[in-house]
Amino acid sequence: MTSHSIEKAAKLANILVGIGVSDDLEPLLPLLKDPEGEKILQTAYQFANLQTSTRNIVTAAERAAKVVFALKTYAHDDSSGNKIEANIIEGIETILTLYYNQLKYGVEVIRNYDYSLPAILCYSDQLNQVWTNLIHNGIQAMDSKGSLTIDVRKEDDQIKVSFTDSGKGIPPEVIPKIFQPFFTTKPPGEGSGLGLDIVKKIVDKHQGQIEVESVPGKTKFTVVLPIEIVSE
Ligand SMILES: Nc1ncnc2c1ncn2[C@@H]1O[C@H](COP(=O)(O)OP(=O)(O)OP(=O)(O)O)[C@@H](O)[C@H]1O
Ligand SMILES: [Mg+2]
Repeated sequence: MTSHSIEKAAKLANILVGIGVSDDLEPLLPLLKDPEGEKILQTAYQFANLQTSTRNIVTAAERAAKVVFALKTYAHDDSSGNKIEANIIEGIETILTLYYNQLKYGVEVIRNYDYSLPAILCYSDQLNQVWTNLIHNGIQAMDSKGSLTIDVRKEDDQIKVSFTDSGKGIPPEVIPKIFQPFFTTKPPGEGSGLGLDIVKKIVDKHQGQIEVESVPGKTKFTVVLPIEIVSE
């Protein structure tokens, strides 16, 4: 711009960069030389800003809608305490939506889902509590940085759900203690040691099993649930 003897070159260049124009100024030269050029560019800059803000607002609103939906579906068990028909993958996705803020910066979530799974009869709110506690432990174990792999598959008449995190792992001598109530290795205020005790009780209530394998960098909790299909 200085080579085209445009006054206030530095100021105009700043505005242009703000709008997203950094090369090929040739078509803009008449505008830049115009005495009203700066005012016109300022207006264009404000429009560009407005467009970015609008995009951010739309994204935020979409996320808020998803979280509200997740919260609404989080608690919907039959008030009589009976099992209800529920889709396991939908339950897990609800929890992932609620954990989005803790996952978005450093955790890659890898989903290996068998979408052909039938809905099963279960205490679905309680299963959501199971997914919550296992996902929470996984995130804590890797300090919110790493990968969380979720497998949901059917094997014979069972559904197997596993959560594998890339965190620090559980030493072999600690594994036998982790399902005991109040056992925790976390500092006070961070963990009460009840998470896995609750998980175990809920899995037992479904006549299922929970298995754990761990080496540093790879800890896998697998919940095995018998499939109880909804009778027509
Ligand atoms: N994915 C994991 N990776 C490494 N260690 C784990 C993992 N999951 C559980 N643990 C170990 O098992 C212990 C017990 O877990 P549990 O969820 O019962 O309690 P907590 O996470 O310490 O507290 P909270 O009551 O908040 O869940 C943890 O303190 C931790 O040492
Ligand atoms: Mg826990």
